[in-house]
Amino acid sequence: MKENEGNYILPDHRQEGMRSLKEMAPRREFQLSEEDRMLGEGKSFRVRTYGCQANVRDGETIAGILQEMGFTEALTEESADLLIFNTCAVRRNAEEHVLGEIGNLKTLKRSHPEKIFALCGCMAQEESVVKALQERYPQVDLVFGTHNLDRLPALLRTVMQEHRRVIEVYSSQGDLIEGLPARRSRRYKAFVNIMYGCNKFCTYCIVPYTRGRERSRSEEDILAEIRAFKAEGGREIQLLGQNVNAYGKDLGREDGFTSLLESAAATGIDRIRFYTSHPRDYSVTTIAAMQKYPNIMKALHLPVQSGSDEILKRMNRGYTADHFRELVGTMKKMIPEITLTTDLIVGFPSETDAQFEQTLKLVDDCEFDSAFTFIYSPREGTPAAAMKDDIPMAVKKQRLQILNERIGMHARARNEQYLHRQLEVLCDGQSRNNPLVMAGYSRENKLVNFTGEGIREGDLVLVEVTDAKSYSLDAKALQKI
Ligand code: SAH
Ligand code: SF4
Ligand code: F3S
Repeated sequence: MKENEGNYILPDHRQEGMRSLKEMAPRREFQLSEEDRMLGEGKSFRVRTYGCQANVRDGETIAGILQEMGFTEALTEESADLLIFNTCAVRRNAEEHVLGEIGNLKTLKRSHPEKIFALCGCMAQEESVVKALQERYPQVDLVFGTHNLDRLPALLRTVMQEHRRVIEVYSSQGDLIEGLPARRSRRYKAFVNIMYGCNKFCTYCIVPYTRGRERSRSEEDILAEIRAFKAEGGREIQLLGQNVNAYGKDLGREDGFTSLLESAAATGIDRIRFYTSHPRDYSVTTIAAMQKYPNIMKALHLPVQSGSDEILKRMNRGYTADHFRELVGTMKKMIPEITLTTDLIVGFPSETDAQFEQTLKLVDDCEFDSAFTFIYSPREGTPAAAMKDDIPMAVKKQRLQILNERIGMHARARNEQYLHRQLEVLCDGQSRNNPLVMAGYSRENKLVNFTGEGIREGDLVLVEVTDAKSYSLDAKALQKI
């Protein structure tokens, strides 16, 4: 590939940090030119996605665009003509893994120079990563960011027809692009973006820099997507945003999320989930909506991060541990059957043993159904990266292990309460380890492995729980619903 330095558009962290909350994001409709519809004919692709649901959803859009361009999905990554790494930047080890994998492609590129390798997603929004790709990874032909998925056809056209490297990463806040195709991984379950970006700027987190400021899609666009999905036989939607409770604020709407949730429930789709909620913005009206509509699932992921007020303050989370406890108390009182999961970070700069103990105490008080736990990872350009990362790795690892044991203990105890109870499961097909057993998620978002005859992917099934483990339930099917 030829270099064409002058034409690169590179990310800029300073620009990403600057944002105006007043202007609304412009809306654009995606359109594919006739010429681009033919570009992929006879060629195959694979997308490898890392990171959160936002990235999974982007991966579906990328695959959808490529299919409309005539590309077909390759059976293996090795055989693909176009291989795209849709990356996550949230922690360093995930990034190192991707750079290692891309490093390994050098030899393949040498023997197959016609293959195209691309990198997109959150790592593409990082200045230092793009600089490294530019200087040390000539095997990567195309780099594009999270704000310009609709530019993919044009960028690929340049790479394929002009045989040169293209880097186009915008740091502006991104438009709302509607009408993008999507190749959903399942026909009965869908991720529905309700907003992009994040304004919270938790001090440890890279996401506001890689995803830009909060931009809400219009309620009409969201509801139209849900209705169309339902009409095609869709059963479950997951409303996506980094902080869904802030939905609509940029559109000048207060408590926009609750009213969106109610309108989504009124479409009559079988199951509605939403992800992620922020404790600072979570409103009692949202809990009331969850209580009122049977098709809003009684499962909530509410990341708390730490049980220490001092650490929460240094993380810029905007609430105290007691505020969180109260919120959980209200929730459990209003919806006793609710399942609650969370995210926790150990080893944030200056976290003392006593502060870590407070996290354990919070975990005991809230009795989470499960949690994602992480070792703090400094991210360049974030405020926490300027704090001294002073907790030795051995201590971080030990805290993580203690925390995981505690989480596991509560998870098991919570799961045991489901023994012999009947649950409704949406079947996702055969379980991972045993083709004779089916797997799916219950309304409470519990992973259920179950036996039964004549059950297919996409079926709603009534099951009876026969055994409880820490992270899943075993059951037998009673009947299809
Ligand atoms: N928007 C979501 C979370 C997005 S990132 C929310 O705020 O709830 C998912 C999780 O990764 C976070 O909740 C946090 O626990 C973890 N995380 C984010 N940045 C991190 C970092 N620098 N080091 C370790 N964990 C991090
Ligand atoms: Fe990151 Fe905080 Fe935004 Fe979540 S709310 S994406 S942790 S900045
Ligand atoms: Fe990772 Fe980006 Fe999601 S950093 S967690 S893929 S928003």
